[in-house]
This record gives sequence, structure tokens and C-alpha cells, in this order.
Amino acid sequence: MKELPEPSRRGPRVWKLTAIHVVIIIAFFGLLLGAYLASRNTNKARPLSNALSNGTSVFAPTTILISLDGFRADFLHRNITPSLNAFVQAGVSPEFLNPSFPSITFPNHMTLVTGLYPESHGVVGNSFWDPHLKEDFFYTDPARSMQPKWWNADPIWVTAEEQNVRAAIHMWPGSEAHIGDIEPTYVDKYKGHELLGNKVDRILGLLDLPGPLDKDAKPESPRPQLIAAYVPDVDRDGHLYGPNGTEIRSTISSVDSMLGELFSGLEQRNLTDIVNIVIVSDHGMATTSTSRLVQLDDIIDMSLIERSDGWPLYGLRPKNDSDIEPLYNHLKQEAAAMEGFDVYLKDRDMPERYHFSRNDRIAPLWVIPRTGWAIVVKEEFNVKEAKKTGQVYHPRGVHGYDHEHPLMRAIFVARGPAFPHTPGSKVEPFQNIEVYNLVCDSVGIVPKPNNGTLRLPLKPIGLHDSMPPTEIPEDMPEDVPEDVSSTSIESSETIPSAAASSTTVTQVAASSTPASRPAIATTEAAAPSRPVIHDDVSPEDEDKDGKDTNLWWDWVKGKLDGAKEWATGLYDTVSDKISNTAASPSEGSD
Ligand SMILES: *[C@@H]1O[C@H](CO)[C@@H](O)[C@H](O)[C@H]1NC(C)=O
Ligand SMILES: *[C@@H]1O[C@H](CO)[C@@H](O)[C@H](O)[C@H]1NC(C)=O
Ligand SMILES: *[C@@H]1O[C@H](CO)[C@@H](O)[C@H](O)[C@H]1NC(C)=O
Ligand SMILES: *[C@@H]1O[C@H](CO)[C@@H](O)[C@H](O)[C@H]1NC(C)=O
Ligand SMILES: *[C@@H]1O[C@H](CO)[C@@H](O)[C@H](O)[C@H]1NC(C)=O
Repeated sequence: MKELPEPSRRGPRVWKLTAIHVVIIIAFFGLLLGAYLASRNTNKARPLSNALSNGTSVFAPTTILISLDGFRADFLHRNITPSLNAFVQAGVSPEFLNPSFPSITFPNHMTLVTGLYPESHGVVGNSFWDPHLKEDFFYTDPARSMQPKWWNADPIWVTAEEQNVRAAIHMWPGSEAHIGDIEPTYVDKYKGHELLGNKVDRILGLLDLPGPLDKDAKPESPRPQLIAAYVPDVDRDGHLYGPNGTEIRSTISSVDSMLGELFSGLEQRNLTDIVNIVIVSDHGMATTSTSRLVQLDDIIDMSLIERSDGWPLYGLRPKNDSDIEPLYNHLKQEAAAMEGFDVYLKDRDMPERYHFSRNDRIAPLWVIPRTGWAIVVKEEFNVKEAKKTGQVYHPRGVHGYDHEHPLMRAIFVARGPAFPHTPGSKVEPFQNIEVYNLVCDSVGIVPKPNNGTLRLPLKPIGLHDSMPPTEIPEDMPEDVPEDVSSTSIESSETIPSAAASSTTVTQVAASSTPASRPAIATTEAAAPSRPVIHDDVSPEDEDKDGKDTNLWWDWVKGKLDGAKEWATGLYDTVSDKISNTAASPSEGSD
């Protein structure tokens, strides 16, 4: 009997306690849920503040940033870029964008996405020595270059992700380097030979992901607000064939068609006035020539040099610091006596406008070629020999020079709701340190401290139509027939026979290649960084990215496959020269 009331008596008490606990727990979870929803709302609310609808989907401020590597500003005036020219007429742009010094790919791609001079973001070259890490950076070796330690500033995808703006980065240099331990929501592994059509599909596919207010929105695959994509083609063929060659014309027009596809893809989605597009390039390109080479090892004793950084510039680090001053004085004298290069001490007379001194990764002594010139050591190219045999210097096009030289000029063209100007507006030229702020503004994120000063909205000075380009720079002269082909055709037996059949050409190239490409093994300590490099490129990378992917890199790496392609280039050159004189039909198409 006693047993029964007990549980019944205890029952209500236990129930009451349980109820209280349950209420507390529910309240607790309610609070948690509320906090979660609130935080989610603020995350969403900010970017959505300037949202626009294309009729069926709401878009938070969205910007596509595309970099066309090596697209020189005046390529727009060759009548082969209808899509880009129409884009200029629809958007806002300066006549050209100045790169930063040195005008090469990795430093400038980092500047474009940080707003910092290379001395401040730390990627001071495509290859350089870090005296603190005691290691070499080299850009075609991802195993090394894609370690975060090299990348000392936060790029725009980090800025965006930190502010809850999702970023998708397609092959932008550095995007696989885990910078700041923050990954873009989407990051595409670098492939040198990605079809241009695939790049367009990728970008449009990202826009087609459900937006934040769409019913089928998925948190694990959000639609990105920042899409940055990299297009290597024009740079690659500019190196291979030269910026004034006929071959590069088809590359330029295929990149233009790619942009045309992108623009019409946006139009089909009713996104032309909703999504911003910013098209930039990183630098221009200048024609090289065997008559514009500086044989560095004829000028200084290379055995005094521990390492040289930065190609086509030469940043010299002597073995003994006490050699810096004498080497500088000697080079300075030679520079005054001959054409083609300037010499600077990083900490003394490096031009202020280069902003190229405040970093230990910058070598103490610099030999900087004048635009269109190249500096070579004999193991890669013997100038005297080449002039005798009529050998043509490769690469046919080079950049890296004074970033304010007209042939180094890049482009910036923008269109979309963040650029609400009269179509075809023109702004004053500016430097690419400004691009980061502008793109941040276009998606509504707060930029980190940087060297840019421009902000949106841009301030047009007029219309392109009423203000034609002030000047279209003339390229440097190429190796001209009377210098090379006439002498070589008359004096050399191999070259005419090479032109007769392509089989022979391969042989010619095979025999001339060892002399012209960087030697494979470097025994001299004084070797420039170029030949040393390819030894470190793993065969794995080569299989993935090398082969026919990137002839320029192959050439740099001294790969035989590349050499074969190089031979084709030589063949083209030779047959060019012959068709010039004999009007041969072999070189009809471009
Ligand atoms: C296209 O977008 C505009 C806003 O930019 C909107 O007014 C228009 O209705 C849309 N058109 C269609 C067909 O949805
Ligand atoms: C709006 O954009 C979405 C995503 O790209 C697309 O699927 C949709 O068809 C577009 N709406 C219109 C009216 O074009
Ligand atoms: C560097 O050069 C100076 C002057 O020629 C010499 O006294 C010194 O021993 C050298 N140092 C080394 C490490 O070779
Ligand atoms: C560039 O910006 C960085 C970061 O704000 C700053 O540290 C550096 O001093 C600036 N450089 C110049 C030349 O103003
Ligand atoms: C560049 O090419 C054009 C046409 O292909 C030619 O007329 C011009 O002379 C070339 N310029 C130089 C500097 O070689």
C-alpha cells in the first residue's frame, strides 16, 4: 500500500522538475536558434542591400574580374577585337592601365588583387630568393610556389570571404596558395591549356547557381558574388611569336570571341545590367631581337655572383657583399658606353616610381634591360655566334620592363551597375594598384589597407568616341630580313634546306636548340635563375600542365617537346622570310 502513493506522490514532483528542465532546454535552444538566425540574417542582409533582380532571381552585388595575361593596350586598335571594342563602347575605361614594376605576371596578378606594390605584397618576381626563408620562389613549380609562406598579403578572395561574400577563383595566380588559411568558396586548379569555351561555361555555371533568395538555394554551393578568372593565351603566344607577329592575331581574336560568348551568355540571362564585369590585363609585350641583346657574361665576372633573380631583369646577389659596389660601378660605366640596360642599387638609386626596394626579397643590385632588350648569358644564348649564323632570339616577345613604357601598357574596362556612367566613358589612365579598391567597392566589401587611392564611382573625363587614342606605340623592330634571313639564307646551307621540308626543319632545330635554350645542368654558381629552375619542376607537373600546354614554359624548362614547337616557330620564321622574298604561298593563313 505504501508503495503505491509513493510513486504517485513522487510522480508530480519529478514531472514538475522535468518540465522545468525541458522548458529551460527549449528556451536555451530557442535562444541559440534565434542567435543563429540573427547572425545568418546579418550575414545575408548586408550583401543583399544592393540586390538586383533579373526578373527571376535576386542577385547580390556581383562582379566578374577577368585577366587576359599579356594583352597589350593597343591590341584593341588592331580591328580584330569586335567584342572588346563593343565592351569599351558600353562601359568605362582609361586608354590604358599601367602595370606595376616589374611588369611581369605573378607580381602584377598579386597587385591586381591586393592593391599593393610588389615590394609590399612580397611576390617581387616570377622567381626570387628569400634570404630569410633561404629558399627560391619559382612560379612554374607549384609544389613550392603554392605554399602560403610566399604570399604575404591578403588577396581579394580573402577580403571577400572574411566579409561573408563568396568568391570563385578560376586559375588566378596564387589562388591555390592557401593564403591566410582562407580558401575561396570555389577554386579551380591551374591548367595551362584549358579551352576558352570551358572558361565561359564555368563562369556562367557559377552565375546559374541558385541565389540567396531562390527556393533551391543550397548553403554548400552558394552563388558567388566575386568571380575572378585568368586567361593565359595571349601572353603565351606573345612570347612564342612576338607581339607584332601575324600568329598572335588569331590568339587575340579567339580570346575576344571568348569574351563575346561571355557577354552574350549574360545577355541571355538578362544579367547585362546586373552583373559587373571588369576586364584587365597584367602587362604588355615588346618584340625582341638578336640585335638587342646584352651579353652579361662579357661585362661582368659571373663567378662573383651567387644567384640572379627576376628574369628578364637581373637582380644580382654577389657571393661577397663587398663586391656589390665595384660591380655596380663597373656596370654603370658599361651601361653608359653601350645601349640596352640600366643599373641600379636597390637601396640607393632605384627609381622611386618603381616602388621596388622595400623588401629583402629584392636583390641589392639590378641590371634592367631597356624595353625590347634582353640580357643573356652565353650558356643560353651566345650573341656573337647568333649574329654570325643568323640565329633568331627566342622568346620573340618579352615584358618585365619599365612599367610606364607604352609597350608595357595593360587594359582595364568595366561595365555594370557599379559603373553607372554614360556608355563609352573614358577616365584618366591609372596604375593597377587601384583595381583592388574598385572591385571591392563593386561588390560592397571593405578593402584592406593598400596603395590604391581611387574609389567608385569613377570620374569620367569624356567619351572614347570624342577622344581618340592619343598614341598607338610602335613596336620595337623585329629581326629584319636583311640582318638575318638574307645573310643566313645566302651563307648558311641548313636554313634553305630547312625551309624546303618540315622534316629537315626539325633537324635544324634539334641541332640549334641546345645552343639556344637554357642548358640543362648548371655547374656554375653564377648561373642565372632561369636554367637552374627547370631542374626543380617535377615530372608530375610536366605531365599535367606541360607537354604542348605551355610552350613558353617548356622553353624555359628546356623540355624537348617545347623545343620541337620552338622548331616550328623557327620554321615559321624562316618560311616567313622566304615568302617575303620569294612570295611563297606556304605562309597563307595566320
Ligand atoms: C530583366 O531585368 C530587368 C531589371 O534589370 C527587369 O526589369 C526585366 O523585367 C527583366 N526581364 C525579364 C524578361 O525578366
Ligand atoms: C536570371 O538568372 C538566372 C541565373 O543565371 C537564370 O537562370 C534565369 O534564366 C535568369 N532570368 C532571366 C529572366 O533571364
Ligand atoms: C669579401 O671580400 C673582402 C674584400 O675583398 C675580403 O676581405 C673578405 O675576406 C671576403 N669575404 C669572404 C667571405 O670571402
Ligand atoms: C603601400 O601600402 C602598404 C599597406 O598599407 C604600406 O605599408 C606601404 O607603406 C604603402 N607603400 C607606399 C609606397 O605608400
Ligand atoms: C609590325 O607589323 C606590321 C604589320 O604586320 C608591320 O607593318 C610593321 O612594320 C611591324 N612593326 C615592326 C616594328 O616590326
